[in-house]
Amino acid sequence: MKKVFVTRQIPDIGLDRLRQACEVEVWEEELPPPDEVLQEAIGRVDGLLCMLTDKIDAALIAKAAPDLHVISQYAVGVDNIDLKAATKKAIAVGHTPDVLTEATADLAFALLMAAARRLNEAAQFVYEANWRTWSPTAFIGQDVYGATLGIIGMGRIGQAVAKRARGFDMRVVYHSRSAVTLPEGLDAEALSLDELLTQADFVSLHAPLTLETTHLIDAWALRLMKPNAILVNTARGGLVDHQALLAALKSGQIAGAALDVTEPEPIPDNAPLLDLPNCLIVPHIGSASVRARQRMAKMAVDNLLAGLEGRRLPYCANPEVYG
Ligand code: DGY
Repeated sequence: MKKVFVTRQIPDIGLDRLRQACEVEVWEEELPPPDEVLQEAIGRVDGLLCMLTDKIDAALIAKAAPDLHVISQYAVGVDNIDLKAATKKAIAVGHTPDVLTEATADLAFALLMAAARRLNEAAQFVYEANWRTWSPTAFIGQDVYGATLGIIGMGRIGQAVAKRARGFDMRVVYHSRSAVTLPEGLDAEALSLDELLTQADFVSLHAPLTLETTHLIDAWALRLMKPNAILVNTARGGLVDHQALLAALKSGQIAGAALDVTEPEPIPDNAPLLDLPNCLIVPHIGSASVRARQRMAKMAVDNLLAGLEGRRLPYCANPEVYG
């Protein structure tokens, strides 16, 4: 029987199927396996099912057992995996596109709304027993209805966010590095990055993290944004220069930020961003819905089993491995 190592507990719908087909070892701890555990495991298994919290770099891949030809990631983003090193070693890397699109778009919109209407500050005010009367001036936030939404990265998730914006009669503008064909009925205007930043009331990030997009939102970009603007990031923390964001939020250069992802993750307990009332941070929960996580588990297992059986992965992040 083939042996696989799964670096965290995933929904049973995936694990049960895997257990029927191979010998499965699951890292049961809450925290990810330390490097030495991964190094030891990758040297003796035929397949690895990993998370975005595992650093699958060239050094680790070099230690892979000769029979390991598949790494299946339980996420769509694969920026934690050295794809070139994997391809060089003839290892196919699987990932989970599409199935978490709607859940992530829901969260992006929830964060947008929460930051716009200052929900975290207002809720904290109530829970700290400060609510004495209705106030004509407290917790005044930004209007969502009719505002301009700027989407950076108009792939699957960006487009799903744009669809939600229609219900709020928003003007949607976007910036994308690659050519985009929008589905019929999705009304959105392509702009340069500068134009988008200067026009948008809400800027929502949906680009993958690459060398080119690292710190795409830096001090310069934040300076272009409107003073009422809110930055929403459900993509990857590395897209934003957090020092620059801190300065922009403190000085009132922009009105607020809502982050599902940070750099690093988890955000350190003493990070100054945590002290800012106009910054809402949640712990990377974009895909954390029942349906999305079940589908991710199923897809990650489909990829792993295909690789173990020597078939082409249905959702492969490095298709050049077959070239
Ligand atoms: C992903 O899949 O890349 C998300 O960030 C986590 O589900």
